[in-house]
Amino acid sequence: MKVVSLVGARPQFVKEAIISETVRAAKAWDHVLVHSGQHYDAVMSDVFFQELGIPTPRYNLGVGSGAHGAMTAAALDAMEKVLEKERPDALLVYGDTNTSLAGALAAAKMCIPVIHVEAGIRQAPRTMPEEINRRLIDHASRLLCCCSQLAADNLQRENIREGVIVCGDVMFDLFKRMEGRFDAERECAERGLVPGSFFVATLHRNFNVDDQEVLHSLLKGFSLLVRRTGKKVLLPLHPRTGKSIDFPHWGDVLQDITLISPLGYLELMSLVGASAGVLTDSGGLQKEAYYAGKRAVVLMPDTGWRELVELGWNLLCPSLEAEAVAGLGGALLETPPPMPCFVYGAGDAATRIVRHVCATLSPF
Ligand code: UD1
Repeated sequence: MKVVSLVGARPQFVKEAIISETVRAAKAWDHVLVHSGQHYDAVMSDVFFQELGIPTPRYNLGVGSGAHGAMTAAALDAMEKVLEKERPDALLVYGDTNTSLAGALAAAKMCIPVIHVEAGIRQAPRTMPEEINRRLIDHASRLLCCCSQLAADNLQRENIREGVIVCGDVMFDLFKRMEGRFDAERECAERGLVPGSFFVATLHRNFNVDDQEVLHSLLKGFSLLVRRTGKKVLLPLHPRTGKSIDFPHWGDVLQDITLISPLGYLELMSLVGASAGVLTDSGGLQKEAYYAGKRAVVLMPDTGWRELVELGWNLLCPSLEAEAVAGLGGALLETPPPMPCFVYGAGDAATRIVRHVCATLSPF
């Protein structure tokens, strides 16, 4: 059996790392890796391949950045050619990116079964590019691998019932697999940080960073948090966010924030593990903070990872007001509720996915 696996952006490299390792260990199928090139900077792409031991992709489609339509169309066109050439038994896509949508569309039109890892996540607003992608990918998929029962229930509400499994989160598998390599002491020492004396923050969503007024307000929130708690806010800067910051004129807030380059997986997880908590609009980091035993403020109007908010572990911050951000950030320092267990599986999601794919699609 042959499966083409398509990645293109940071969160997908992380998921591919554990899936490809599991496929290799089980000799489950011929795994053909394709990189769309959506993320291309060394710090956004190469570093993940190197440190997570992901094999070099057989194809790089080089789609790069651009408007949603141009990027998706370029990946769609290129993927059609790859699928034509490889004639796989299935296409595997992860999450909610333009890359995954393009791959799913190309495969579905060629009657190649699509496997969607991280299916069934739903969040408002429906106009968010990632939310549009998720819904379309799920409806084009034959096998839908859900991180939780809630995700499977979301699919059921949209009449998607066949091919659905609840297997847990492959990011939890990877976290457990890599935990022994996290080195909080070294990462803190290299940056002159004292464990527990800083928050880790990330921002990259279009609704948070493209409008400068909104972005300034969120950064002001970080600045207030620093002034009120005496702790630092470490902000690894996504290129999209960097392009929106008005460096010459925002000294009032930037002086309080510790801006750094985007981090690799091991560095980021090490620092999260030593942090006082996380403030983020990243879906992946909300969960990874929990896996590291840390709480997160979710800087979004809603979250697809609702369980962690309902259990009181993560705090949703729908407001873009600086005061709200600083207030909820400060709440991370209060006594936490009991940490919930195994919300997204037991760390064997990749094995379950591989078994499900073989049982459903293998010709033998
Ligand atoms: C994408 C995904 C999102 C995922 C995120 C992880 C979509 C719609 N969104 O969002 O689901 O959470 O990746 O980061 O696919 N850029 C660079 N260098 C790079 C990559 C991007 O400079 O290597 C800049 C470009 O200006 C680009 C912008 O960042 O236009 C945004 O990149 P893009 O891939 O469109 O979306 P992300 O915000 O990264």
